Amino acid sequence: MWPVTVILVGFSLLFQQCRSSTTTSGQELSCPFSSCGKISNISYPFRLKDDPKQCGDSRYELACENNVTKLYLYSAKYHVQSINYNNFTIRLVDPEVQQSNCSSLPRHSLSRSNFCNTYDYNNKNCNDPYHANFINQELFFDSNKLLFEHIVYMNCTHQVINNHKYVNASSCLNSNSKSKGYYIYAIAGKLVAQDFQVGCHAKLVAPTSWLGNLQRNQVLSYDIIHKALVYGFEISWMKLPCQKLCGDSLRCFFNSSEQHLQCNDLCRTVMGSWITGSCGKSL
Ligand SMILES: *[C@@H]1O[C@H](CO)[C@@H](O)[C@H](O)[C@H]1NC(C)=O
Ligand SMILES: *[C@@H]1O[C@H](CO)[C@@H](O)[C@H](O)[C@H]1NC(C)=O
Ligand SMILES: *[C@@H]1O[C@H](CO)[C@@H](O)[C@H](O)[C@H]1NC(C)=O
Ligand SMILES: *[C@@H]1O[C@H](CO)[C@@H](O)[C@H](O)[C@H]1NC(C)=O
Ligand SMILES: *[C@@H]1O[C@H](CO)[C@@H](O)[C@H](O)[C@H]1NC(C)=O
Ligand SMILES: *[C@@H]1O[C@H](CO)[C@@H](O)[C@H](O)[C@H]1NC(C)=O
Ligand SMILES: *[C@@H]1O[C@H](CO)[C@@H](O)[C@H](O)[C@H]1NC(C)=O
Repeated sequence: MWPVTVILVGFSLLFQQCRSSTTTSGQELSCPFSSCGKISNISYPFRLKDDPKQCGDSRYELACENNVTKLYLYSAKYHVQSINYNNFTIRLVDPEVQQSNCSSLPRHSLSRSNFCNTYDYNNKNCNDPYHANFINQELFFDSNKLLFEHIVYMNCTHQVINNHKYVNASSCLNSNSKSKGYYIYAIAGKLVAQDFQVGCHAKLVAPTSWLGNLQRNQVLSYDIIHKALVYGFEISWMKLPCQKLCGDSLRCFFNSSEQHLQCNDLCRTVMGSWITGSCGKSL
């Protein structure tokens, strides 16, 4: 019986432009907000460990330790800086990074390669609760906005003076001296092949969502890079409300002018453009 139901549901959705923001089921409404430290608005899909069982979604469980909200992600622990229910992002920072101490570095490397590739929004092979891109209506799927960029720490056997991307971190990391025999540099943003210098190896990769605040062609200092680390990085749980709203057969978008999710059935034609239709499937 169930395939028939699925087809019928898919069929009716096809003619429906979904307009509501997230769907809300009974259990989402009946649970009060939880609070931990500066995060006072913990609600569906998030839950704290000690919340009543029916509250939130267990895949989005947060810990409250010493009055700090924490998220375990790929066997590392992060401090939650904010939860943005309007755009389905949560901002995290590595607990080792201290605002007033520019010598502090993240304990763990984390990069986009840790997240599954969710460019294909309905990727059935990806069950991870969070993803690293942001589904934006205006940009369409080919250019989904990346939620964070990378800061790469390079450990070099020599001084790098011919590449302005290599930011001298000696004022904070106290490692750039001949006596130590190595030099630490930080690179923010896109790395191209030429940026990998002979005698340098990547030591640590840290995500940040702050680099969008930079001016065009701004020369970076290590202070700025530290600021970006302290700001942290955003990841998204949009996949969950998208699946609830649109199911698996329709495309889901964040209409950023209206700040809500929307479903649509869009298909790529042979010519490469996008049309609304049933994507060659017969219903
Ligand atoms: C927990 O953090 C909140 C917000 O920062 C603060 O108001 C509260 O006093 C803290 N409670 C304890 C027990 O430290
Ligand atoms: C808390 O989040 C809910 C969405 O889950 C939102 O409706 C509400 O306005 C938020 N409250 C505050 C004080 O931000
Ligand atoms: C999500 O919302 C927060 C708070 O309004 C904002 O700081 C952040 O830049 C937004 N993220 C994206 C990807 O739009
Ligand atoms: C600053 O961070 C570094 C590296 O984690 C640490 O060794 C040092 O003790 C910290 N300094 C202060 C004043 O906390
Ligand atoms: C940099 O690499 C050298 C080996 O090339 C190693 O001895 C040193 O400990 C590394 N320094 C840091 C801070 O990782
Ligand atoms: C980095 O800065 C330090 C002190 O400001 C300086 O001694 C060193 O030569 C610089 N390293 C470079 C340019 O790689
Ligand atoms: C965003 O939503 C508004 C109002 O619902 C609608 O007029 C507009 O067409 C939507 N944008 C896109 C790109 O679909």
